Amino acid sequence: MSSLTGKHIILGISGSIAAYKSALLTRLLVRSGAEVQVLMTPAATTFITPLTLHTLSGKPVHAQVSSEAGWNNHVELGLWADAYCLAPAPANTWCQMARGLGDNRGAAWDLCVRCPVSFAPAMDLDMVNQPATQANVARLQSYGDTLIPVGRGELASGLVGEGRMAEPEDIQAMLEAHFGEQQLLDGKRVLITAGPTHEPIDPVRFIGNRSSGRMGIALAEAAAAMGASVKLVLGPSALGVHHPRIELERVETAQEMFDAAVRQFPGTDLAVLAAAVADYRPAEVAEQKIKKTEAASPAIALVKNPDIAATLGRQKQPGQLIVGFALETENEEANARSKLERKNMDLIALNSLRDEGAGFERTTNKVTLFDRNNKRTALELKTKEAVARDILRAAAELMKPTRAGSQNKTSL
Ligand code: CTP
Repeated sequence: MSSLTGKHIILGISGSIAAYKSALLTRLLVRSGAEVQVLMTPAATTFITPLTLHTLSGKPVHAQVSSEAGWNNHVELGLWADAYCLAPAPANTWCQMARGLGDNRGAAWDLCVRCPVSFAPAMDLDMVNQPATQANVARLQSYGDTLIPVGRGELASGLVGEGRMAEPEDIQAMLEAHFGEQQLLDGKRVLITAGPTHEPIDPVRFIGNRSSGRMGIALAEAAAAMGASVKLVLGPSALGVHHPRIELERVETAQEMFDAAVRQFPGTDLAVLAAAVADYRPAEVAEQKIKKTEAASPAIALVKNPDIAATLGRQKQPGQLIVGFALETENEEANARSKLERKNMDLIALNSLRDEGAGFERTTNKVTLFDRNNKRTALELKTKEAVARDILRAAAELMKPTRAGSQNKTSL
């Protein structure tokens, strides 16, 4: 069954000769089981008739932003949609989208939807590579919109080069992949540890680290977006998270994080241990604030904290999967691989502090993944959200049933 089955898709058609391809796109989407609501700008109706698209989609076509009652209401339509795809999207439409302007109808509808937006530009030769075009594309991508890249070939002007709207089959495949990803962790229970831990010294001081919790929160949000029910055990972080499928438990110390993770682990399909857990804590916590004295500098005796990853690795049952992180400053690969083995993990994401743009207190990250089958995948520098999706895709791959029909054995 196609991942498009039952999905609500708004297809926005703007004025461009490529609008003729939108008829085939409508047909392909409807055939895959999607409900397609076509919106056309007046300019688009000079290239292809609303009657054609009404016939192919089975729904009346709208060419108004609002004003009429009921269905033909842009806000209501925005709530109905699972995806908004602009195809074709001529430059004036998405340049307005990039600036949040609503005086073009394709751009106005863009302002009204809550769902993911994708746009398939159609342009003439050389427009694609103009700095202004590239800047507007980058701006839309930074809002989370997806560019459906132009193709090469003969253009309406008679010139040959880059600028053709993507083929309807490619746009359908892209939408199918998008919805397929939403189901990647459907029904799975995912446990995530995130953030730093604070190990108290006295009532006002603690030993901590510079983790912000951003990577773990990105993982929780990405897993929820892929259909999982997520339990997020978050150390002291200034960040928060709100998602109906994420249950948040805030903890302070490594011991509290350990207790929460061990309690939640049975029954989870996947544990992603992204927390920067303090390895040691003060042996004694002073009841009162430690006062400064003239005597010799005080020493703090430390004891080891429990290792959450190693404990879950020992408790792991067949069918459960553990993903960890390794933050290294030297012998990175060897250390990451040995952590994977030692803690009986299935996948490990290596972070090197030597990489520009990676690590604590940043919005980007650069990781290399190693799995238990010795597969190594080096990822580019990306936003932590994009890294989170890559890690979960790799985990979902390992969770796939093996050929024998059973789940991968995760306990060796
Ligand atoms: N981890 C954990 N509990 C701990 C320490 C680490 O769950 N007490 C997890 C981290 O969340 C991470 C992985 O183990 O997924 C590796 O953490 P890291 O700090 O790199 O490794 P350590 O085992 O602490 O080794 P070292 O500090 O010597 O590098």
